[in-house]
Amino acid sequence: MNQSICKVALLGMGTVGGGVYKILEKQRDNLVYKIGGDMEIEKILVRNKTKYMDKVDPQKLTDQWGDIINDDSIEIVVEVMGGIEPAGTYIKEALQKGKHVVTANKDLMAVQGHELLAIAKENHCDLLFEAAVAGGTPIIRPLKQCLAGNDITEVMGIINGTTNFILTKMAEEGMEFADALQLATDLGYAEADPTADIEGYDAGRKLAILASIAFHTPVTFHDVYTEGISKITAKDIRYAHELGCEIKLLGIAKNTEDGIEAKVHPAMIPSKHPLASVKDSFNAVFVHGDAVDDVMFYGRGAGELPTGSAIVGDIFDVARDIKFNCAGRIGCSCYQNIPVKSIGETRSSYYVRMKLEDKAGTLAALAGLFGSNNVSISTLLQKTKQGNAAEVVIVTYDVLEKQFMDSITVISTMSMVKEISSVIRVYH
Ligand code: NAP
Ligand code: HSE
Repeated sequence: MNQSICKVALLGMGTVGGGVYKILEKQRDNLVYKIGGDMEIEKILVRNKTKYMDKVDPQKLTDQWGDIINDDSIEIVVEVMGGIEPAGTYIKEALQKGKHVVTANKDLMAVQGHELLAIAKENHCDLLFEAAVAGGTPIIRPLKQCLAGNDITEVMGIINGTTNFILTKMAEEGMEFADALQLATDLGYAEADPTADIEGYDAGRKLAILASIAFHTPVTFHDVYTEGISKITAKDIRYAHELGCEIKLLGIAKNTEDGIEAKVHPAMIPSKHPLASVKDSFNAVFVHGDAVDDVMFYGRGAGELPTGSAIVGDIFDVARDIKFNCAGRIGCSCYQNIPVKSIGETRSSYYVRMKLEDKAGTLAALAGLFGSNNVSISTLLQKTKQGNAAEVVIVTYDVLEKQFMDSITVISTMSMVKEISSVIRVYH
């Protein structure tokens, strides 16, 4: 801080902005010890000022970006309005004017993060975004700083709270997907339009950010394969339990010899894996480094105070950097350009539930067809029988996704196959 009071502007006063405001108010008396000075929220940008008149000092509210960008006393801009535009333009303009930026905006950082970090570097500014992944759970700073001495080979985890809540309700109370989604909406976990959560886009954006930082190479949302949870049934969850597994929406990023893998999809995970016991709306990220071995980060991935906690931690870091004149100290960590593999080039084992004609030779024909595509079966269970159709569950050994999908395409055309009911990857 160049003066004793560091002035901050908030762009947005919704869930996260409200949390940041409350935490900064509560921390007021500690600021001198924590950051060596005082801090003032100078301006708050919203669209509809009337909505916020009774929540904050009305003098601070503005609906004009010009009131912030042209105020040279404001040193830190906290972007918690969301969306790509105008948030992206505001962040660029703030950095170009030498203002430091803290943001929670994963949609933006997962697509334009590398460009924005370059602008921050050019202008010797901080651009911090801890809240963009896993809300209140620290993961970006640990990857960039505490684990910097590692070659990280894998980052994976549960990085969407809404879908984890839905899958927990399906697993523990036998709810079907639609009922669990309705409950998530009623409790305020799911957004009015929950598409980004349930189709895996929200987790895909967070995974792109994590993979870029962990592997020091640009990975954007467009590089990440995404598949959501809307096709998961209570029956698959029951069968997963019989196989000693839970079903979770996982974000998985690996740095392999032939490129980066980055994918978000529902997966069966052994019940003894630490991620299998992460329930409700909690998030957890599992990291493997060559020096540290396995580390797991667990906590709340959303909500006003948890997300506000991450934002305020970033604001305090920026304030210290200003005070010690070392802003821009920790910028973009990408110094490589590693190709990202397509989903067909990744490997997994697979659970397949299907209905087959119940007659002699069917299973042998099926096994033969899988075998001719190099797909080897590790488990085969015959479940229920309905009329002349039998429900069968197959789990394969590890195989190239393209080979597995080719075999499923052929199998689905066989007359003895009545239905391929579900295909779920299995994480080992
Ligand atoms: P929100 O509750 O919808 O609040 C958005 C705020 O931004 C509102 O105050 C809104 O003002 C203001 N705003 C939006 N567009 C604006 C514009 N063009 N000009 C001026 N003000 C504008 O959103 P949120 O849940 O707090 O999320 C904010 C950001 O944090 C998003 O990037 C989100 O992805 C991220 N995030 C959220 C959570 C969470 O738990 N909610 C967790 C992690 C990250 P009006 O009311 O006047 O429109
Ligand atoms: N919609 C997100 C989730 C929270 O359910 O995890 C914001 O990142």
